[in-house]
Amino acid sequence: MTVKPPADKVSTPERAPVPLWLLAELTYACPLQCPYCSNPLELPKSRNSELTTEQWLDVMQQARKLGAVQLGFSGGEPLVRPDVELLVQEGSKMGFYCNLITSALGLTNERITALKNAGLNHLQISFQGSDQETNARFGGSDSFVHKLAMTKEVIRQGIPLGLNFVLHRHNIHQVADFLALADSLGAEFVELANTQYYAWAMHNREQLLPSRQQLQDAEAATNKFRDTSGSRMKVFFVAPDYYDDRPKKCSNGWGTTFITVTPDGDALPCQSARIIPGLEFPNIRTQTLRDIWLDSTLFQRFRGTAWMQEPCASCPEKLIDLGGCRCQAFMLTGDAASTDPVCSLSPLHHVVTEITDAANAQASSQPSTQSSTPAQPLLFRNTSNSRKLSAKKETSTS
Ligand code: SF4
Ligand code: FES
Repeated sequence: MTVKPPADKVSTPERAPVPLWLLAELTYACPLQCPYCSNPLELPKSRNSELTTEQWLDVMQQARKLGAVQLGFSGGEPLVRPDVELLVQEGSKMGFYCNLITSALGLTNERITALKNAGLNHLQISFQGSDQETNARFGGSDSFVHKLAMTKEVIRQGIPLGLNFVLHRHNIHQVADFLALADSLGAEFVELANTQYYAWAMHNREQLLPSRQQLQDAEAATNKFRDTSGSRMKVFFVAPDYYDDRPKKCSNGWGTTFITVTPDGDALPCQSARIIPGLEFPNIRTQTLRDIWLDSTLFQRFRGTAWMQEPCASCPEKLIDLGGCRCQAFMLTGDAASTDPVCSLSPLHHVVTEITDAANAQASSQPSTQSSTPAQPLLFRNTSNSRKLSAKKETSTS
């Protein structure tokens, strides 16, 4: 579907990028506890700081005026908020293509009907495993039967649906089973998304990163399904970039395409930006989205290529990947302006190969077709663990 920018779209300086996507992280509350969650490690103690319905409607309107056409509602679990249907309805009226990204917990037949009537264009349901036991083990809640029921109901009511299966060392062997399941349910597309190592996933990385052999087996299973199943379901396989020799062009380039607004109103160029020290994070309660997008130090800090150091600064490929991911560069090198060390041209590329070597060594003792038990317990994403991490941080900095 093509969505035209509104007629009263604000004029922006020549060549300033247009934020096509608004990702509305409505809440960090979530009934699941996935150990690879991209939400911050320090979760808020209460929900009192969340934006109100009126504030979200205002942000959406401002984003639309800047030219945004895609609106994603995520969390946490966005369905925890009782105003999702209203936000979808108003987003739809504003001309957004509205997408809801959910675990399906909180979804009911009635809410599916309400979301459809509100104009929801697309719904994405995530699974943590291809069977009840694995799904419960990594989601921290027995939700598999409910997810299946909701998947069927979304399809029955005719909302375009994608399924998302987050892959890691302990479920990646289930790719063929998951594709068969998704196909039997009638999903329009499946995203086999290898865990991206930020936030909780970064904390659990040693236990989650699959081996190269596991990845190759999963890609082979995906290709076999594409070649032999006769299914019309689209399948996307998103590999972890640790095994590549060039980094991803993160968020399509810092401050070029995406605005993420957090539950408490910070506007960010990517979901993880708040981990980078020394930056100020503008909030939509005190600044307009237009000012934040065009003029804030945050959105300009890594926009374009002027910030680059060597080897990126003189690299002939710099416009292809824009130096990779700033958050990953910070997490792995301590310097957000350095070359993403996934790049084989980075002087610190060995940091990544040491991580993948360790994952290969750990996984080699385990047949890639079986589920395994993490050598160390995974840290599940919940408020209790979040508090423990915050206390540890305070002790180490005092
Ligand atoms: Fe990309 Fe920088 Fe590597 Fe060149 S050196 S390929 S710009 S990350
Ligand atoms: Fe922040 Fe990649 S996640 S720049």
